[in-house]
Amino acid sequence: MKAVQIEKVTPAEDVVLSDLPMPQVKADWVLVKVHGFGMNHSEQILRLSEIEAPYIQKPVVPGIECVGEIADPSDTGFVKGQKVVALMGGMGRSFNGGYAEYALLPAHHVFVVETDLSWDALAAVPETFFTAWGSLFECLQLKQEDTLLIRGATCALGYAAIQIAKGLGCKVIATTHRESKLPLLKDADEAILDDRQLTGKIHGATKALELIGPKTLGDTLQAVEHGGIVCNTGILGGVFTLNNFDPIKDIPNGVYLTGFFSNYPTQQVMDDIFAFLNAHHIVPAYGAHFTFDQVKDACIALDSHKINGKIVVTME
Ligand SMILES: NC(=O)c1ccc[n+]([C@@H]2O[C@H](COP(=O)([O-])OP(=O)(O)OC[C@H]3O[C@@H](n4cnc5c(N)ncnc54)[C@H](OP(=O)(O)O)[C@@H]3O)[C@@H](O)[C@H]2O)c1
Repeated sequence: MKAVQIEKVTPAEDVVLSDLPMPQVKADWVLVKVHGFGMNHSEQILRLSEIEAPYIQKPVVPGIECVGEIADPSDTGFVKGQKVVALMGGMGRSFNGGYAEYALLPAHHVFVVETDLSWDALAAVPETFFTAWGSLFECLQLKQEDTLLIRGATCALGYAAIQIAKGLGCKVIATTHRESKLPLLKDADEAILDDRQLTGKIHGATKALELIGPKTLGDTLQAVEHGGIVCNTGILGGVFTLNNFDPIKDIPNGVYLTGFFSNYPTQQVMDDIFAFLNAHHIVPAYGAHFTFDQVKDACIALDSHKINGKIVVTME
């Protein structure tokens, strides 16, 4: 089978497809015929630096998510031909991931999906929609009557969160730090230029999805209404931790802070996501589409940070 395999720091320009042996099925693992995958910046980090870390299997096929069909269910309850998505749990890091024609994956991180989405649209779903869904519902307890602030919305996760929240019927206020990108937030009710000080500029936000991260989290906590909830999910601002954070003064009285980590997908949540997408006729948006033989170009596009939204790759 064809696959991308890396074992040392690999710039996007050096990414090639290699011939690898077909993976051999084993107990509790399923063989997935990959039809497509979404790309993630954690894969760029893996390729450009993290590959040298001792905890990464080497050589490794990158890719923390994929979509496809069961080619061999092994001893699991899956059935050959079932449409599935897979994500996380060490995929593309501790064991070979999605940048391949076939992937051998632990059954507990593979999920059956009921959908008529094309492979390209489906490839935009697993990691991005699972993260948006968990942030909005498990963490923010989003309801139709909420006004949702999405901070740093011009990213795959931001666009997915807008699609879900608008599908639910919420009012959405979305921010970008680039004036030129305000038109990309046309599906939100309000698009706001973010100068890192929203307090006093937005009104009525009962829930906030923080995608810039600790860099602006303090301001976001001040910007939501009394009783509001803030979920820190992103780290686009490049600041990963809160230093000198005083929870007594920095979290306003009656405001709640939570965070989401996408490492624990379940079949139930996948069922909920696809039932919602089907019911609301939502076709997941993506920013660019490549075929597998163009995977080098897809990696170059990922590293360029110039694509607005998810980059998806399909086999044909
Ligand atoms: N918690 C979790 O489990 C989890 C899971 C998945 C992703 N994430 C995180 O969620 C964030 C979004 O992920 P993604 O895959 O949707 O990202 P992405 O699509 O790769 O988005 C990257 C784009 O975000 C834009 N951006 C918007 N506001 C920004 C700001 N203030 N600073 C820098 N860039 C900004 C940048 O474009 P412009 O600068 O041109 O606007 C950049 O090109 C990332 O931080 C990612 O690490 C977290």
